[in-house]
Amino acid sequence: MTDALKLGFGPFTPPAKGVLVVFCDADLKLGPATRKALGSAAGLVARAAKAERFTGKKNAVLELVVPEGLKAARLVVIGVGKATELTPKDFPKLGGLAMGKLPNSASDATVFAELPGGAMKSEQAADLAQGARLRAYAFDRYKTKRTDDEKPPATRNVTIAVSDVAAARRAYDPRSAISDGVLLARDLVNEPANVLFPEEFARRASTLKKLRVAVEVLDLKAMKKLGMNALLGVGQGSARESRVVVMRWNGGKVGQAPVAFIGKGVCFDTGGISIKPAASMEDMKGDMAGAACVVGLMYALAARKAHVNAVGVVGLVENMPDGNAQRPGDIVKSMSGQTIEIINTDAEGRLVLADVIWYAAQRFKPKFIVDLATLTGAIIVALGQEYAGMFSNNDQLADRLIKAGIETGELVWRMPLAPEYDKMIDSKFADMKNTGGTRWGGAITAAQFIKRFVDDKTPWAHLDIAGTGFDSRQTDINKSWGSGWGVRLLDRVVADYYET
Ligand code: BES
Ligand code: MN
Ligand code: ZN
Repeated sequence: MTDALKLGFGPFTPPAKGVLVVFCDADLKLGPATRKALGSAAGLVARAAKAERFTGKKNAVLELVVPEGLKAARLVVIGVGKATELTPKDFPKLGGLAMGKLPNSASDATVFAELPGGAMKSEQAADLAQGARLRAYAFDRYKTKRTDDEKPPATRNVTIAVSDVAAARRAYDPRSAISDGVLLARDLVNEPANVLFPEEFARRASTLKKLRVAVEVLDLKAMKKLGMNALLGVGQGSARESRVVVMRWNGGKVGQAPVAFIGKGVCFDTGGISIKPAASMEDMKGDMAGAACVVGLMYALAARKAHVNAVGVVGLVENMPDGNAQRPGDIVKSMSGQTIEIINTDAEGRLVLADVIWYAAQRFKPKFIVDLATLTGAIIVALGQEYAGMFSNNDQLADRLIKAGIETGELVWRMPLAPEYDKMIDSKFADMKNTGGTRWGGAITAAQFIKRFVDDKTPWAHLDIAGTGFDSRQTDINKSWGSGWGVRLLDRVVADYYET
């Protein structure tokens, strides 16, 4: 696990052992501190680059083993392409790339946070460190058979060399808190559903109390009393009881309305009576990625002591078929009083969100609401895994999300809402039905459904993260399956919201 990583900052001095990582541009140019540290080995780099046809283009890597003139056992040169074209989202990626180039056995590494034009800014160096940290994460708690040479060293010391050590540490502090939130979210997503069911999820969310987050868990009795029948209907076919968890971080002004984050927490989604096919059903242990993000975000805000009042509310259920399970055709009355005809029990996430969003809005009167949900396969058809789908009733909130996405690399693409789509979920028997009755525009009709539980005056955005919440692909900053997607994005939205 990542506990093994000891990440720190130090000055630009050539390391006495281990791996040295440096950056060069598309002209193979190195920064002044890097040149000085390499000394005569700089010539080796030029020769090796030629032999390997390494041109310093972005993300290309050149590796030299036991380089003459250096005490380091290995020198890794990473290309950045044109250094002037680097944007903020590139620095975590470079850190991830550097971390990924450490051989499994390496216990010491030094990364020179320098570009050809000079030392990286403190923020850039801190982003680099954050990328390294995120990359180092592995979910391996169920691997019992690894041989000694497959295991990484007990501790791994990674030093980021910078020009101003104190400033880099200051810049890294909040990022360290945010990284912890991302890794917490990843742990929740990666955990299998026999281990992580609603009550266990609630127990883990309750550990945020140690950071002075107020955590309340609503049990069946409390939810029934509130009339959360849409949520309860989804969970009624499971042997595991449903839960709602409310997390509050009050780091802002006393009495100031909070911002609210709502997560879909379907701990496993079989589809219910409208059961899913067997292929890839195991992925549905990740159908709580929205809720995981909300917990990770609340962790991050509390750990970095953000000057904000924030609430996180997650609806936790397991969608199973059994004798007591909800049927297609059933009609439920949601907490809002609106009635819903169930057409497809596999469109369960929106039923959970309907009650949880309504509850949070009534109780907290938030300044804005963002919900996250692995809601539809249709959003994956539309956008693949690069962008999450974003639906919003408010242009300003939508623009904030788009901007934060570009800065963090957690990208969102705005999708449409319109009365014509809304009409598609009108029902013959109830106020609405839970699907549009066609696969066309499936992510949009799902968003229209949720919109019926949000009052028009509250700025709201819905993020459909079915494509981004978990990921079998590997990225520079994540080699595990659960991505922790959204924690960095929403932390940035909160930071921007309270700065501007
Ligand atoms: N959890 C799924 C959506 C999903 C699919 C998430 C793939 C991640 C990866 C959701 O509950 C679901 O089953 N949606 C249905 C809705 C349909 C029945 C209207 C879907 O997308 O097929
Ligand atoms: Mn489903
Ligand atoms: Zn689902």
